[in-house]
Amino acid sequence: MNDALIRAEHVSVSFGGGAAWSLRDLSLSIGRRKKVAVMGANGSGKTTFLLACQGLCPLTEGTLYLDGKPVEPVGDEMPDGPVRLISSSTARELEQAARELEQDAPQLVILDGPAAWDRPHRALVSRLSDQLTERGTTVLLTTYEEDFTMEWADEVLVFHQGQVLIHGTPEQVFANSSALALANLEKPACLRIFDCLCRKGILSSALPVPRTLEELEAAVDQLHDRSYRGGAAGNQGKKEAILAVSFGTSFAEARVSAIEAIEKAFEEAFPEIPVYRAWTSGMIRRKLLRTEGMEIDGVPEAMERMLRDGVTDVLIQPTHIVNGIENEQMKADALAWQDQFHSITFGTPLLTSQEDCRQVIEAVAQEFAGLGPEEALVLMGHGTTHYANSVYAALDYQFKDSGHPNIYLGTVEAYPSMESLLSMLRVARPSRVVLAPFMIVAGDHARNDMAGEEEDSWKHRLESQGFSVSCVLKGLGEYPAIRRILVEHLRDAKERAEEPERG
Ligand code: CO
Repeated sequence: MNDALIRAEHVSVSFGGGAAWSLRDLSLSIGRRKKVAVMGANGSGKTTFLLACQGLCPLTEGTLYLDGKPVEPVGDEMPDGPVRLISSSTARELEQAARELEQDAPQLVILDGPAAWDRPHRALVSRLSDQLTERGTTVLLTTYEEDFTMEWADEVLVFHQGQVLIHGTPEQVFANSSALALANLEKPACLRIFDCLCRKGILSSALPVPRTLEELEAAVDQLHDRSYRGGAAGNQGKKEAILAVSFGTSFAEARVSAIEAIEKAFEEAFPEIPVYRAWTSGMIRRKLLRTEGMEIDGVPEAMERMLRDGVTDVLIQPTHIVNGIENEQMKADALAWQDQFHSITFGTPLLTSQEDCRQVIEAVAQEFAGLGPEEALVLMGHGTTHYANSVYAALDYQFKDSGHPNIYLGTVEAYPSMESLLSMLRVARPSRVVLAPFMIVAGDHARNDMAGEEEDSWKHRLESQGFSVSCVLKGLGEYPAIRRILVEHLRDAKERAEEPERG
């Protein structure tokens, strides 16, 4: 209390006398070297309070202290005393004030907020107030700008009908919706979006409240990277597990040579951590159960199984190629179990970063190192309606850009389609076309849509255009270099899971 720079005790001001109070029983205290935004409509008492601080307004009742001493009336002339008023309506005035105050440090500066609240003005106000508070001065800024106040102020003082409606940190003041409504103020943009993201469960309300849009952006940016902390278990009794999530296949040999080979690579990389399996295709899982009596977990079943086994921390590595619908659904399914685990951390799909694309190109080029310059390799990707589909066209371009003009990548379901590839191949006229799947397993699409004998298979369509075609039924999961990329993604996830808990 003694350290307060300004202290008001039951201060009332009535200019006409009687019941028309400009300030009514005001008590507050403001500390030193604080940046304080003073807000409120015209006639709210804001201006009367600031005049009283300068000794320019006689008090009807109560006492106002500055630095422990009652403020004395000074008449109309502003002395070179402890309180300074700066009008900041133009940038030039602000710059001049900054220069004048370089040598001088008044105890209190009252800054009349600029009418034109553009970027240069904001920067000048920030710089001037930093310069002042560093030397011990408290700055009172009158302003109507909620966004700037959120970013700038240590404290916010909102006047309403001659009284202080609310006084606190920007986080406290702008969280009080009813006070804001009374004072006709709005929530700052960063807070409105933050609240909305918290309501949707996208951001955790336990995070520090963002004070700028940039801070909010940073919180959203971290979403992809963080691990999801649940309520259960601490470091005691920690038990990790890896969940390898694949789409699945009904072809037994593809299951062994691609999916099981990937799972084995995970086991070899992390021999101390058990590896669980989940497949996301309900259709394939039901078919395997029906035809072979083989029971394979979906993501919810696998989460439940790990929970039963006492697992506390889950690392989930998908074998998905792109960050598309399958991957998003898988994450949502797993996160339904978030509260039951201490942490859930996701590794990224095969094609996530630019470095991933470079490594995948290298792996494919290595696999088909025997391809002659007059031959062409045509890869069949799956394709998706999700915006992640653009990675296929980008990769097709990147093959050519990185010295493989005769490697083409198309998709069964989306762009680039077989038609786009055909028009390029008609120009290139390769002596032979090698067809291979660009999918984790050489399953149904590879065997039928790519290499099948039906009229609309890629093989048939290429042959009917006069190309000589040979098919390689080998999924990406069968390439050791591709498995190494997925192991690295899992290793990244494990590192992220071990980072200290945030927010
Ligand atoms: Co499909």
